[in-house]
Amino acid sequence: MPQLTDPRQRPRLALLISGRGSNMRAIAEAVLASGLPIEISGVISSRPEAEGLAHARALGLPTQTIDAASFSCREDFDAALAAALRAQAPTLIALAGFMRILTPGFVTEFAGRLINIHPSLLPAYRGLNTHARAIADGARLHGASVHAVTPGLDEGPVLAQAEVPVLPQDTPETLSQRVLAVEHPLYVQSVMAVLAGRQRLVDGAWQSFPPHPGFESVGFSARLTASDLGLDAP
Ligand code: GRF
Repeated sequence: MPQLTDPRQRPRLALLISGRGSNMRAIAEAVLASGLPIEISGVISSRPEAEGLAHARALGLPTQTIDAASFSCREDFDAALAAALRAQAPTLIALAGFMRILTPGFVTEFAGRLINIHPSLLPAYRGLNTHARAIADGARLHGASVHAVTPGLDEGPVLAQAEVPVLPQDTPETLSQRVLAVEHPLYVQSVMAVLAGRQRLVDGAWQSFPPHPGFESVGFSARLTASDLGLDAP
C-alpha cells in the first residue's frame, strides 16, 4: 500500500462518498482530533445531493462533486474521478459509502491506494442487501470488513473486520444500525494504520510494519468485537 518516499512527508487522505457520509465524517473527525500530521486532500461525492457533503464542508474540508448521473458511461465517470484524484495526489483513497463499481482501468491506476468498507464479514455477502441476507440465512454473526479494492466486487484482501451478533428479533434496519456503530471505529483505526505505515499491502497481502516516525501512537487490531469497542448489543 502507500509507501511514503519520505516519512517526513504528510500522508494525504482522499475520501469518496455517495450519500450519508457517516464513515467519512467519523474518519475526518478522528484525523482532525488526532493531532497527527495527516492532510485530508479532499472529499469527492458522486452525487450532488449527498448529505455527507454538508458535513465535510462543516469540518472545513475541500469538497467536490463529480455527478455520476451526468456521464453516459462508467469509463467517462472514472476518467473524471481519476483526474480529480491525480490533482489531490493522495497517499490513500478511502471509499466510504461510495456506491460506484470502479472500472478495472481505474483500479489499476490507483492499485494499492484504494480501500473500502463493506457491511459484512467478507467473504460472506458480497454486494448489496447484506443485512437482509444475513438475517434470511439465520446467521448468528455479522459485521463489517475493511478491504483493499481490486477489480472484483468486494473481493480484495481484507485488512480488518468487526463483528456483531445477529439477534432473533433483528430487522435489516436494527442490524444495520448495530453494524454501523462498529464500522466507524473499525474504519478509523484501519485508515490510521495504513497512513501510519503500520499496515501495508505487499504482493497482495496485508503485512505489519513499524509505524512511520511520529505515528507511534496509532494502534491496530485486525479483528474487533462490539464489546472490544465498548458497544454492547443491541
Ligand atoms: C456503510 O454501511 C458502508 O459499509 C457501506 O455503505 C454504508 C455507507 O454509510 N459501504 P455512510 O455513507 O458512511 O453513512
